[in-house]
Amino acid sequence: MRLVLGIETSCDETAVALVEGGRRILAAKVVSQIDIHRKFGGVVPEVAARQHLETLNYLIEDVLKEADLEITAVDAIACTQGPGLIGTLLTGLSAAKVLAWAADKPLILVDHLMAHVCANFINTELQPPFIALLVSGGHTQIIHFSSYQQYDLLGETLDDAAGEAYDKVARLLGLGYPGGPVIDRLAASGNPLAFPFPEGNVAGYGFSFSGLKTAVLRCVEKLAGPLPIEDLCASFQEAVSRVLARKTVAAALETKVPCIVLAGGVAANSALRRKLAEQSPIPVYYPEMALCTDNAAMVAGAAFFCGKEADLAASVYSRQKKRR
Ligand code: KG4
Ligand code: ZN
Repeated sequence: MRLVLGIETSCDETAVALVEGGRRILAAKVVSQIDIHRKFGGVVPEVAARQHLETLNYLIEDVLKEADLEITAVDAIACTQGPGLIGTLLTGLSAAKVLAWAADKPLILVDHLMAHVCANFINTELQPPFIALLVSGGHTQIIHFSSYQQYDLLGETLDDAAGEAYDKVARLLGLGYPGGPVIDRLAASGNPLAFPFPEGNVAGYGFSFSGLKTAVLRCVEKLAGPLPIEDLCASFQEAVSRVLARKTVAAALETKVPCIVLAGGVAANSALRRKLAEQSPIPVYYPEMALCTDNAAMVAGAAFFCGKEADLAASVYSRQKKRR
């Protein structure tokens, strides 16, 4: 199973990619729906599913054309099974099933969170063991990988995910959706020490970001005159990245792994990358920018390293399955 065609439709990006051996991209396309959902202030599931339906077939054709391959050359068809939006996941799964059936190829299902971690294997020689900090719009977790298929969840957020906190704070500051990239950009010209926002007081490797979001809200309510947006963004970003970096480094030292791996949309965050580089005594890896947010190269890669073969009766799941 060396050459995999991957399909990603877990949320608001339609993506298709052809990846060889889990590490080399032959062709990859992502069509983002952000402009469509922006006016609603967040993703509308039915609209997202409809957009995937309209885009998928063209993307599959484009990717095969770009790689100059027929579907017969592909060893397997992979898609995201969950977690994600049920309606959008089903569009990707249906397309994958049809392709697998028509071309007589194995159907491989992939967990979206594992796929984010596998984005780190693209164009690298990286291999487990490592500590992964998975920070996306729906999850914030510290995971110990002892092999490609064996992992333990060491801690996770008790409430909002890091990306969700970015999106909610951006909304309350009137900065639009998605919040991460815009806060990251504005924070660059702000003072991270202007407002001492709390980190969230959770023991061990757990996190809590809902108190931080409320602290930003209270601060905004008290401020008179035009808001110091850059300082607010920088101070919020400082609080998030500080706790993420500190706990990730602590987990890596405790488990004695040789490196740290960042994954998920918030892995694109400049402050988080900077803080980890400053604080970690061991190497820190992160995917290139385009592979941090949702894409299909990571799905095809995950199929190679840790995907599960399924039959045509398979379905999707919206929430994370229990980890081993
Ligand atoms: O992994 P992803 O594309 O989708 C999920 O699986 O959730 O992550 C999307 C999240 C959004 O919450 C977005 O605001 C955040 O990643 N994000 C960022 C940055 N770029 C995207 N957060 C902080 N800084 C960024 N530069
Ligand atoms: Zn994602």
